[in-house]
Amino acid sequence: MSTAVWTTRLELSSIADKTLRAAARFWFAVALVGQFAFAFSVAAFYGLTAVRGDFQAWNRILAHGYEAGATMGNAALAGHILFATVISIAGALQLIPGIRNRFPVFHHWNGRLFVLAAFTQAITGIYLTLSGRRLVGDATQHVVSVLGAVLIMFCAAAALRFAIARDFATHRRWALRLFLVASASWFIRLGFTLTILLVGPIGFDSTTFSGPLLTFWTFAQYLLPLGALELYLWAQGRPGAFWRMATAGVLFVLTLLMGAGVAAVAMGTWVPNVKAAMDTRKSIAQTLLATITSGGIEAAVEQYQELKATAPATYNFDESELNNLGYQLIRANKFKEAIRIFQMNVKAFPNSANTYDSLAEGYMDEGDKPEAVANYRKSLRLNPKNRNAVAMLEKINAP
Ligand code: HEM
Repeated sequence: MSTAVWTTRLELSSIADKTLRAAARFWFAVALVGQFAFAFSVAAFYGLTAVRGDFQAWNRILAHGYEAGATMGNAALAGHILFATVISIAGALQLIPGIRNRFPVFHHWNGRLFVLAAFTQAITGIYLTLSGRRLVGDATQHVVSVLGAVLIMFCAAAALRFAIARDFATHRRWALRLFLVASASWFIRLGFTLTILLVGPIGFDSTTFSGPLLTFWTFAQYLLPLGALELYLWAQGRPGAFWRMATAGVLFVLTLLMGAGVAAVAMGTWVPNVKAAMDTRKSIAQTLLATITSGGIEAAVEQYQELKATAPATYNFDESELNNLGYQLIRANKFKEAIRIFQMNVKAFPNSANTYDSLAEGYMDEGDKPEAVANYRKSLRLNPKNRNAVAMLEKINAP
């Protein structure tokens, strides 16, 4: 082979190396921003509400969150949430090359904290899943959750073992796998939200928290990032430039999608959660929930009207309050009460497509199809882009 051909090949190979490294750095930079945003929102929401002693606020997000008197369950949940912040920050810091090279002692101890967080997340996650606290989701989700937790512990043990054995090449591979499997619960948030925005709910049922889309992401949250990593590791060792360039292209596209997912979840969940945590008004939803439990739904309706007239600034009367309360009641199979709450929300926010959509869902769960259809149609009139209403009307066979 002539020297000119050799030189061209070497140049191409070096360009491919640089492109692949740049694609990996770009991926990591976007992941870093997204992981920190997630950690910040978790710490802000759960931390600020806990400092105020308002543990009930956790139930606005969680299907089966804080439960007065359930010491073990509440402790497992609090530990799980605390270490969710730790794992997101510690994991990302481990992968920053500047920190790893310049501060090896920090890398050493932060790595141990990361492994501890991984085991804590896995064990508390299994406990929350198997102790029946997770009322929503189907069997596939529960089984994959437990298998995922085992995978997290396996990768954590392998990363630690090869670090102790000073086999740093193998340690690096396992540490990267650990970072990805420990980020699965972050990936599913991004992937699921982005897919809904781009192609619609694909049969997702928000009451039972199940459907083909969620089943897909239940597996993909682990398999997709792990597959991309294995492709990257494989391509790094390939002799020709082609595979490294192609892998860089794949990574680049995945990073753009991941970035779009981060933006979507940040706007739809993380920023609203931080705002909600800083809102010191009392939750009207939690006040009414206590009344429903002690005095029934009609007493709660009366209380709502009275407080709205006499203390409008003390309580939070945002649309999301009654909406979330309605869903809490649906999850507790209190459909009649849920419908009553959604009706009050429709009255308070008659121009919101979402309040009608929720009311329709309440009627669906109650088995009242004509009312469900009427309210999905009202919702669609207010927001013709409401994909959920379109999908539900098709499901009921009433387009
Ligand atoms: C390793 C990384 C993990 C992180 C960062 C993480 C993070 C979180 C967070 C932040 C929450 C509170 C809900 C929210 O604010 O969205 C939560 C809840 C929960 N997690 Fe995890 N988690 C992880 C792993 C796991 C695993 C492996 C399992 C199962 C084996 C699991 C099971 C659960 C359950 C059952 C809940 C309560 C859900 C509910 O009541 O609605 N988690 N997790």
